[in-house]
Amino acid sequence: MASGFAPGKCILFGEHAVVYGHPAVAVAIDSGVRVKVGQSEEWTLEGIPFEPSKHPHISHILNTVFEYDGPPLKMEVKSGLFSAAGLGSSAALSNAIGAALQAHINPSQSLDPIALARMGHSAEAMAQKGRASPTDTATSALGGCIVVSGQQVEGTRHVFDAELETPEGLREWSINAVDLPDSLNEACLVIGFTGEMSSTGKMVEGVAKRLEEKPELQGEMDAIGRITSAGLTAMSAGSLEAVGMAMDACHEKLQLLGVSSPSLEALVEAARPHSLGAKLTGSGGGGCMIALAREPQRVAEAIEVAGGSPLISRLGAPGVRLLED
Ligand code: MEV
Repeated sequence: MASGFAPGKCILFGEHAVVYGHPAVAVAIDSGVRVKVGQSEEWTLEGIPFEPSKHPHISHILNTVFEYDGPPLKMEVKSGLFSAAGLGSSAALSNAIGAALQAHINPSQSLDPIALARMGHSAEAMAQKGRASPTDTATSALGGCIVVSGQQVEGTRHVFDAELETPEGLREWSINAVDLPDSLNEACLVIGFTGEMSSTGKMVEGVAKRLEEKPELQGEMDAIGRITSAGLTAMSAGSLEAVGMAMDACHEKLQLLGVSSPSLEALVEAARPHSLGAKLTGSGGGGCMIALAREPQRVAEAIEVAGGSPLISRLGAPGVRLLED
């Protein structure tokens, strides 16, 4: 069977604001999704009949992107990510299935992470009612540290551009890579899952509604944009303390946008005394928080005591790849 793996991601700065053209900084994490694809007598997913309507990301990649009309396939998915938790599990699934399908259909062709990122973005957009930034899919496909922004960002390496027709009009993003200094390896990310699943589509829609009702919230969006730029400068300079401060500041603004939750607040509070900074990550409303820590084990214990499930990762793992079966 052809086997593809794609990592999950954590947004360090800029979630929600990135949907409106502000910058976001994300890193690929060590955990991800593995997909195996092989020819079969009938269509199956995890050994049971495949129902396309229940798996819109997979169906979109198969039908719309690959226009697959070959013999039935058996598909196996193994995820090391908490799902619907802000870790980009659907983006990792799209990228991993795209990689495995390409290896199955055309084994001699090498993987094109940019093409995978684009197809993953189209699947996300379809699942999120047309409001999706390319952050999750680009970070999972390219790996490392990725900056997604409405404009090109100084001090980064431009990789590709993406655009999407959203209900609020055409959005364009520049996707850029950042080489992280070695000093950032002195710390790890500790991810804390609240145990509550959250729908990105609904959270993004909720923010859009609140913005319509209270246009002054645009000021919080602009502030997230400024904090993201400061956070990126701190990352490029290798200043862990400044990165942590920017994470704390970003969390405060996300609270004001109404996307935190009591369970996220409990984990952020538990992690803060042992961390350089802590915040919710992804769309919020449950899902996960992240903390930056020199002693990740200690933070993981604090998160566990507060009722969360911890996961420790490097900042910036490799991107999508093929695996030996
Ligand atoms: C989800 O991981 C991040 C959001 O900014 C949505 C998006 O970028 O599509 C909330």
